[in-house]
Amino acid sequence: MTNPLASSWRTHTCGDLRAGHVGQRVTLCGWVHRRRDHGGLTFIDLRDRYGLTQVVFNPEHAAEAHGGAHALRSEYVVRVQGTVTARPTETENTNIPTGMVEVMADALTVLNGAETPAIPIDDAIEANESNRLTYRYLDLRRPSMQKNLVLRHNVARVVRGYLERSGFLEIETPILTRSTPEGARDYLVPSRTVPGGFFALPQSPQLFKQMLMVAGMDRYYQIVRCFRDEDLRADRQPEFTQIDVEMSFVDRDVVMEVMEGMVREVFAKVSSIPLPDQFPRMTYDEAVRRFGTDRPDTRFGLELADLSAIVANCDFQVFKGALAAGGLVKGLRAPGMAGLSRKELDDLTEFCKTYKAKGMAWIKVTEHGLESPIAKFFDADTLAAMQRALAAEPGDLLLFIADSRQVVNDTLANLRLHVARRTGQLDGKPDSLLWVVDFPLLEYDGEAKRHVALHHPFTAPHPDDMALLDSAPTQARSLAYDLVWNGTEIGGGSIRNHDMALQQKVFGLLGIDRDEARAKFGFLLDALSFGAPPHGGMAFGLDRLVMLLAGEDSIRDVIAFPKTQKATCLLTQAPSRVDDAQLKELYIKSAVVD
Ligand code: AMO
Ligand code: AMP
Repeated sequence: MTNPLASSWRTHTCGDLRAGHVGQRVTLCGWVHRRRDHGGLTFIDLRDRYGLTQVVFNPEHAAEAHGGAHALRSEYVVRVQGTVTARPTETENTNIPTGMVEVMADALTVLNGAETPAIPIDDAIEANESNRLTYRYLDLRRPSMQKNLVLRHNVARVVRGYLERSGFLEIETPILTRSTPEGARDYLVPSRTVPGGFFALPQSPQLFKQMLMVAGMDRYYQIVRCFRDEDLRADRQPEFTQIDVEMSFVDRDVVMEVMEGMVREVFAKVSSIPLPDQFPRMTYDEAVRRFGTDRPDTRFGLELADLSAIVANCDFQVFKGALAAGGLVKGLRAPGMAGLSRKELDDLTEFCKTYKAKGMAWIKVTEHGLESPIAKFFDADTLAAMQRALAAEPGDLLLFIADSRQVVNDTLANLRLHVARRTGQLDGKPDSLLWVVDFPLLEYDGEAKRHVALHHPFTAPHPDDMALLDSAPTQARSLAYDLVWNGTEIGGGSIRNHDMALQQKVFGLLGIDRDEARAKFGFLLDALSFGAPPHGGMAFGLDRLVMLLAGEDSIRDVIAFPKTQKATCLLTQAPSRVDDAQLKELYIKSAVVD
């Protein structure tokens, strides 16, 4: 076989030929995207990851190549040698960068044939996602998927460059490790050499990066795979990638400043999204009060109003009951939605019930007054005060939820996004990036009947709230921070407990007694006792960041080989059963019966 690079032919990609190349003899390799036979000529669009080029086979110019071209099918892999010619004006294609030229073929080599593709290799045709995942190597031939993977590569490259310049060392940490609790279920790996022993795949390298600080590696980073066996959503995968960072001798502001610089550099180099001079900061309390969530989308208003005080003395049992039980009544304005039908209101109520609300109350504000099944329970002053609190105007629909603080906020936060999408509030709005700070250190988990860490157990309490740790621990704030982009948490971190006694105390608040702390985290407590520097850090979800930069709705579209919503891989059919012999070696007996 002749080596095209060794000959006088120049190798080009299918994306780089322009008018300036006319007259040059070139070699192109790629996939047959489309073939058309026209008046004795055969045309193929040849595709590689750089683009498409039209190749013309003329029987009078190169009879053998023309004969071969006739037999080409979609996705055959070929090499073409020929001369770049200008396209006749009427056949120029201004939609693609190579559209001014074509290659007049002299020779054609079929490098490999191909079955009819199992999914269309075409961005304009939507294929079913399970087929896309089964034949991922075909799906990844589509220009939009290739663009996403290039973007992902570029984000990682910019991050590495920034951190490198800022003095960070890239250090790998183990994948076979001990469980580091981040609040999700672990993926376990049985040990063959230690009967009954299990490794856990890391949910994050949290404790290892802290150990590296104790080891004196004062600026660490890693672009690292993390594993969490949790319920999957559009922006969650069981294995995902973090940009993981830790720094010594810093306070919260320094970590946030360094990380904000990194995000700015990524945005500047891979996108044209303008950013404000400084990302605003909002406290957790304010975010939850105004938006019902710790990751508010502040591109639009529609803020929640707490109506508890206004309706405190009303006759509506649903509201009174919720308030008597220590809950809240909050409302949301749905602009211009007073025209909703009964069925549409029922659908909204069902939507609310998916967030555990028991119901949804509503008032339509019309030119002729209020329409509502609940208006009769309120006197005129109260109704007027409710409308004022929500800045209601004729044409608006007012929505109310009464329940525990958690259910009210969670339901209305989701309802707010639903209403915003439905009423076009997001259209053309500038991006919103903001820091959420001053998270509570702990929250009470009603199911587990104990306090759990809001970020993770290694987060330091806020120095101003130390006294609260004894008197009212759930009121104590922590030194945690999250970065939120258009309502998605793209990163989170905290200053850690570098003082062993303080870490012990936090474990105590979490219901982890000394013996358990020793058994599970002895290595951490030991490390803290050997001269641990003050330290803190942060981790970004690389997949989420790239998903948003790419404008995709699903995290799977920016991961080369993602898992399904059921955490399976359709390409390799993992997870799969294994031989009994393998199980036996691992001291495992399967309880699954066929
Ligand atoms: P956290 O648990 O907040 O922090 O995770 C950091 C970021 O990782 C992303 N992320 C995910 N992305 C995709 N799929 C998932 N299942 C998933 N879970 C999390 C989010 C999130 O903001 N060790 C700490 C960080 C630290 O304190 O330094 C940690 O893991 O974008
Ligand atoms: P009921 O008294 O249960 O018939 O409810 C009267 C109205 O209040 C209906 O429109 C319900 O959807 C609504 N509702 C019921 N529970 C709640 C709740 N927890 N919060 C807000 N509205 C509710």
